[in-house]
Amino acid sequence: MKFFLDTADLSEIEEAASWGALAGVTTNPTLYARTGGSLEDFEDHIQRICKIVGPDCPVSAESVAMDRDQIVEDGRRLAALAENVVVKVPTMVEGLAATRTLADEGIRVNMTLCFTVPQAMLAARAGARYISPFIGRFDDISEDGIERVADIVEAVGNYDFAESTVGGEQLEVIAASIRSADHVTKCALMGADIATVPFGVMKKMVKHPLTDAGIASFMKDWEKVK
Ligand code: E4P
Repeated sequence: MKFFLDTADLSEIEEAASWGALAGVTTNPTLYARTGGSLEDFEDHIQRICKIVGPDCPVSAESVAMDRDQIVEDGRRLAALAENVVVKVPTMVEGLAATRTLADEGIRVNMTLCFTVPQAMLAARAGARYISPFIGRFDDISEDGIERVADIVEAVGNYDFAESTVGGEQLEVIAASIRSADHVTKCALMGADIATVPFGVMKKMVKHPLTDAGIASFMKDWEKVK
């Protein structure tokens, strides 16, 4: 499973990238608004993220348009910002139509706000390079987000969508709306291709009290050797 960072915060991205395990970044309008950035600076901000993570790390930038022509226009503009930009498009009729057009033009799309297996199947057939099913938002309404996303991972895994995606690249499922390290464990067990994780969760993923205790005791014993 690969790890993406679910943030638009440049310092978080710089820090996480320095750990050596980062494979991409996902942003959304809420995450960008949280940085305090303006509409005018949005595209420069996405370019800064792309520069930090380098050309091999996909960076999802979301269109907020509601009709297919406008989404396609946004998508072309966003994709031109850097070679690693992936256009994020909501799973809806206009989004599917725009995804087909963008995919046919060789532009990679991450279909987001995906909650069901039928939505995921349609996104895959429309040429999405990534599909982002959400976990935490199901938990928020007292449904089991892990179970729902596991269904999507299993259903997508039943088929080969390479013929639908840009350049025949393999479609990947990004488990999104992750709220805890336990969510990450369950994503790895269900076989999600990617987990996009907020920085706070990524910091918790590194830690275990037995690791801390082990480091402390090794340090103490090493003092005796010295
Ligand atoms: C990422 O692609 C999603 O936009 C993000 O994970 C949503 O997370 P949230 O449900 O915690 O807002």
